Amino acid sequence: MANFTGQLWSLLNRLKVVTFKLALITQRCKSINSVNLLNIDVQDFRFPQCDFIACVYTLQFIDPNERFNIVKKIYDALRPGGCFILAEKIKTFQQTIHNIYTGHHNKMKLNYGFTKEEIEGKKRRLKGVLLPLTLTNNLDMIKLSGFNTMDVFFKWCNFVGIIAIK
Ligand SMILES: C[S@@+](CC[C@H](N)C(=O)[O-])C[C@H]1O[C@@H](n2cnc3c(N)ncnc32)[C@H](O)[C@@H]1O
Repeated sequence: MANFTGQLWSLLNRLKVVTFKLALITQRCKSINSVNLLNIDVQDFRFPQCDFIACVYTLQFIDPNERFNIVKKIYDALRPGGCFILAEKIKTFQQTIHNIYTGHHNKMKLNYGFTKEEIEGKKRRLKGVLLPLTLTNNLDMIKLSGFNTMDVFFKWCNFVGIIAIK
């Protein structure tokens, strides 16, 4: 689990995590009894009424035609004043910018100790699986689902964090 998601639970009383990396996360959450782990496809998940939902680099793996339905379910589940955090990889149509971003991202992975072969392998495995939308597409989807208040609170190359308040 990435640091971003990990750090969230120190700020929250209760956090539900919907993911498939259950064994790893179960191990890491052993001592945190406010975390409730569910092994479920987010498309089948009925969000309970709540005040905070974070979707961190996950929506990008869902069929783009289904994403709006999920964000709408999130909007419906949040109480007024509730907060939705969406972190996503985004698409840019400008090839020069795309190449610069990809270069920075690859350099970062090399610095983390990944080999060029591992980086290429992951890129191949994600082809056709990770389907990023543009930043505008994501903001439009959030707006269309009902949120009026939103902002980009984080952007690094082609990765963004969006905050939306109901
Ligand atoms: C890049 S990881 C991000 C994981 C975590 N949010 C983090 O910050 O480290 C993408 C996650 O999306 C999950 N995922 C992909 N499709 C999903 C689906 N339909 N329902 C629930 N989770 C899904 C994968 O299991 C994987 O754990």
